[in-house]
Amino acid sequence: MRLDKLLAHCGFGTRKEVKTLIKNGYVKVNGEVIKKDKYHVDPVGDKVYVDDEQIHYQEFVYYMLNKPAGYVSATEDNIYPTVIDLIEENYRQDLFPVGRLDIDTEGLLLITNDGVLAHQLLSPKKHCPKVYYAKIKGVVTNDDVQTFLSGVTIDDDYQCQSAHLKILTTSDTESEIEVEIYEGKFHQVKKMFKAVGKEVVYLKRIRMKNLTLDESLQLGEYRQLTDEELDRLKNETVLQ
Ligand code: URA
Repeated sequence: MRLDKLLAHCGFGTRKEVKTLIKNGYVKVNGEVIKKDKYHVDPVGDKVYVDDEQIHYQEFVYYMLNKPAGYVSATEDNIYPTVIDLIEENYRQDLFPVGRLDIDTEGLLLITNDGVLAHQLLSPKKHCPKVYYAKIKGVVTNDDVQTFLSGVTIDDDYQCQSAHLKILTTSDTESEIEVEIYEGKFHQVKKMFKAVGKEVVYLKRIRMKNLTLDESLQLGEYRQLTDEELDRLKNETVLQ
């Protein structure tokens, strides 16, 4: 990998900024000052230092984001800010969100550059469970719980897989629920409630497979996954 690309990946600045660092003699590879930005290094085997700080290359990065409303789950958009705009260390330019939350949906979104993991989590064949907390206009009933279990029909003729609906609170006007679904159709939770004559007024994802939203993250905040979270996400089989 080119030295300037490696340093940009590791968060030492934009491509232009790291070129300046290199030209000014701040960068050593295996003990030797290198002033050529095109110099090629082995990001794992070579010892690269910037101003005497050794850099540690991570090929893949994994962030848990608490998505706020108003951001689109995309890498670029002509109108709205994207969830990638929230990741300050995005010098690498290869991050993307794993799946989509609607612009008004909040909560857990995994941001990575690991296409293999993203595919594992998003492939319809894997039936990856996703848990949402929602506020619903109207009174959610035990009949709705049964209907969700049998498979709600949305988009006129699509029968959703069995979903687990839990009623948390109800009043005359609003209910709070948690719902676990195993597929990811466009606006799925909103459409499922519409199918039983109700409206989602607030939606937040709280879990994806075995990864639970860290409630200490404020809206718009993110952190790297811990080794344990990543290991479980990659390797554990979740039973429905
Ligand atoms: N279902 C929805 O309706 N919206 C989301 O953002 C996610 C699931």
